Amino acid sequence: MLYIGIDLGTSAVKLLLMQADGTIQKIVSKEYSLSFPKPGWAEQNPADWWQACMEGIRELTADVDRSQVAGIAFGGQMHGLVILDDQDRVIRPAILWNDGRTIAETEYLNEVIGREKLSEYTANIAFAGFTAPKLLWLKKHEPESFARIGKIMLPKDYIAYRLTGVHCTDVSDASGMLLMDVKNKRWSKEMLEICGILECQLPHIYESYEPVGTLLSESARMLGLPETVMVAAGAGDNAAAAVGTGTVGDGSCNISLGTSGTVFIASDRFVVDSHNALHAFAHADGRYHLMGCMLSAASCNKWWMEDILGTKEFAVQQSGITKLGENHVYFLPYLMGERSPHNDPKARGTFIGMTMDTTRADMTQAVLEGVAFALRDSFEVAKLSGIQINRTKICGGGAKSPLWKKMTANILNIKVDTLANEEGPALGAAMLAAVANGEYATVAEAAQAIVKVTDTVEPEAELAALYEMRYRTFREIYPKLKDLFWKM
Ligand code: XUL
Repeated sequence: MLYIGIDLGTSAVKLLLMQADGTIQKIVSKEYSLSFPKPGWAEQNPADWWQACMEGIRELTADVDRSQVAGIAFGGQMHGLVILDDQDRVIRPAILWNDGRTIAETEYLNEVIGREKLSEYTANIAFAGFTAPKLLWLKKHEPESFARIGKIMLPKDYIAYRLTGVHCTDVSDASGMLLMDVKNKRWSKEMLEICGILECQLPHIYESYEPVGTLLSESARMLGLPETVMVAAGAGDNAAAAVGTGTVGDGSCNISLGTSGTVFIASDRFVVDSHNALHAFAHADGRYHLMGCMLSAASCNKWWMEDILGTKEFAVQQSGITKLGENHVYFLPYLMGERSPHNDPKARGTFIGMTMDTTRADMTQAVLEGVAFALRDSFEVAKLSGIQINRTKICGGGAKSPLWKKMTANILNIKVDTLANEEGPALGAAMLAAVANGEYATVAEAAQAIVKVTDTVEPEAELAALYEMRYRTFREIYPKLKDLFWKM
């Protein structure tokens, strides 16, 4: 049988067709636009996601016997607020995970309700991109939209709803709403009260590998697929990526170098970071994870290459980088503010340290290094909680660059495993669909059978030592500029 994994990303949806044994038959990608209505805001139109998914599924299955398609599941950009009225019509554009408009609401939640209470109710504190602060923002700034809310959903859940007619979400994605009691995997009555919403406005919570329904006849007809196709709940994109990279055993780690950059640490037990800098979320394998998320990772490189240097030849630009560990230029990658560990929506991108002999290659190098240094910040927080990571998987667009992988291995001073397939979330989603259809008994079993490590990038003692010194300098830059960012 065949399984479709849909990674509903920020710049595009990626769709992957997988045979039950994990063989990838085809991958299709469809882009859509992202709007920045004000500096630091980010919105998207759910109708664009739907159209791209429908076109994508049709193209993905164009050359196969469609009666063989047995299941669909998702990995989706997390935290986005999608609201429907009581006729299930979209009320306004979705407010995305990297939108920083909720400074006042985040502060209210953390300072007035209090970090301790939030942590008790949800296992997490408020970050600007999370869904609960967005609801408070909406209640204040667009009360007429707030009053019309029939259903609140996350981006991928909107697609699942359009395909099946079921209002559903999964434990991993729901963890990032700041509305769920993560430990017990149920909506938090206290948080619903704080946000002024009712449980009936929220979808039912499933485990990521559970079936939520089959295709509505209308969707099946539009896609040319059997009505029996089983749709599974799927996962937030990071949990789906963790499945797709085989990051399912206790203490295993995955780094995603996508639009966002994440450090994902799987855990068999429910754990909370006592510093609240890492998110304590449910995993798609039925267990839990800790995660650090930086808001701009591969997107910093894309911005630097395409918008500033005006080129799409990323590899050509990187070929000019020859002196790893010796750059005098530093880059703070906070182009959309920063989540982990600073929790500062006002943080901004910065180049610092240029001299008259600074070259274009030095600046490109600084961008790549700045992202890896910022990932190391999350590792340092994990270390404070006694978590020692010695090796990691890696996925996302940035993982395609051997140079960036080498920098990451040396800046973090850990082994970086390269996989036969770096399609993280889309593959993980297809694997969840296969588990939901009984092809594998558990997510761990699917990962064991499907994910293959092909190579390992080892840190080199001398280079790691040079980067250790540079990381210490990097760490000093943000605290010195923090106050200035808030005056800008
Ligand atoms: C995770 C997060 C991002 C988005 C990107 O907390 O906000 O990784 O899921 O799609």
